[in-house]
Amino acid sequence: MRRIHVPWQDGEKSVSMAVPHRVPKSMRSRVPLVGSAVRIRRDPLGFVQQIRRYGDVATFKLGPRTAYVVNHPDLIRQMLVTDAEKFHKGVMFQKAQVLARNGLFTSEGDFHARQRRLIQPAVHASEIAGYTRTMGDHVQGLVTAWADGEVVRMDEVTFPLALGIVARVLFSTDLDPEAAAEVQETLPVLLRGLGQRALAPFDFLDRLPTPTNRAFERALPRFRAVVYRMIRQHRLDLGQHPDLLTSLLQAVDADTGAAMTDDQVYDEVTSMIIAGSETTAAAMSWAAYLLAAHPAAQRAVQDEVDDVLQGRPVRYEDLGRLQYTHRVVKETLRLYPTTWMLMRRPLVDVDLGGYRLPADAMVLFSIFALHRDPALFPDPEHFDPDRWLPARAETIPPHAYLPFGAGPRGCIGGPFSHTEASVFLATLAQRHTLVPVSDEPARIVTTLIPMPGPIPLAVRSRTEPPVSTSPEAVTR
Ligand code: HEM
Repeated sequence: MRRIHVPWQDGEKSVSMAVPHRVPKSMRSRVPLVGSAVRIRRDPLGFVQQIRRYGDVATFKLGPRTAYVVNHPDLIRQMLVTDAEKFHKGVMFQKAQVLARNGLFTSEGDFHARQRRLIQPAVHASEIAGYTRTMGDHVQGLVTAWADGEVVRMDEVTFPLALGIVARVLFSTDLDPEAAAEVQETLPVLLRGLGQRALAPFDFLDRLPTPTNRAFERALPRFRAVVYRMIRQHRLDLGQHPDLLTSLLQAVDADTGAAMTDDQVYDEVTSMIIAGSETTAAAMSWAAYLLAAHPAAQRAVQDEVDDVLQGRPVRYEDLGRLQYTHRVVKETLRLYPTTWMLMRRPLVDVDLGGYRLPADAMVLFSIFALHRDPALFPDPEHFDPDRWLPARAETIPPHAYLPFGAGPRGCIGGPFSHTEASVFLATLAQRHTLVPVSDEPARIVTTLIPMPGPIPLAVRSRTEPPVSTSPEAVTR
């Protein structure tokens, strides 16, 4: 029995009736046993877009399991927000526990809610103003070093940039070069490994000595060593830095009075590094790529930045006036939303739009597919920042745009990363024009997040208008 809405006088009324659940259409696989695992691995982005055509809820086989895919924005919203307490995050996040164990990204229930209350203030919109200067300094350091005519691999430079900013802002420390190099080398390997494990049709595949698994096993202790070293160093001079790591080390449980152990602190630090570095790096790379490929949009950003900043470094108060730049970031996150697929696990049987999701089922949803659905976004493959002009944005259905997810498990770093990407574009646009070096479209490499493949862009230094050389502007 399920509740349905029936027409009633002027509106509708919700009644309980013995109406059978709808049966989701199933995408058949030609490969028995492993189901669609091979197809997903070969073309994950094609897969999530194809299965969208099978209805609001569709199924496919993943090894012996039936996986459910929720495609309709209202139903995704129901799962993430209205019925959030009926879901845990699912296999994908259980597998991520090997790396982030019981941090914010992976934990559940009361523990998660408590940790979220503790961590959220550090990345709340009200704190971002104070971080903008740090972001600007890091970006200036990067872009002032680029020479006219140089070819820069955006996909390579943005990750160290984003990692440096997260470390500096949240842990008020610059990673020493050795630690930074370790994290830069190991984190992509770990995320690639997790991406494969999330959709492996059988768990034993995680333990086979494949090159990806072996690389994962080698990278994990190296990554852990860096994070634990950072925690130990912070404990030594506790209270010296007013930052998130210090708050974590000083926090005590209201009921038990117990402080967090190094292991718990490690889990939270790792969650923030995983969630906050590659994601924002990908967003910055894709934004640079899109601007290089759309010279008129790039010129519009430059004109806006010249007009608002008059050659000085970007400040938080300027961001509200950098409206076009803001729309570029928004549109970038629509086209490349950094998660091609996320998961949930219902704790009880859940009715979703008349479909029954059984308790414990593997439930997937794709923000990437949602953002490229022609029923939600006209001409969805087209980069069009002005679709976010207020009059046009009004016509976009609610819940169709979810780059940061939603509800109690939505991203806590949304304002942080949006600001970082805007500061990146504004600072870059002041100094340089980016030019593609090839007509080939950039490849999307899907690990856990759709990462840019190689994005080489030629840098042309701008001569007009002159960039201020006041001490405030020169940060290197
Ligand atoms: C462009 C950049 C980013 C994007 C697109 C992004 C996207 C997301 C999405 C979609 C989720 C929800 C996952 C789910 O519902 O299963 C999420 C969660 C999360 N994000 Fe972000 N994120 C970004 C940057 C950041 C940054 C900079 C931080 C931290 C400084 C961060 C911290 C987190 C954390 C801790 C969670 C887990 C929240 C929880 O479960 O309570 N993210 N992110």
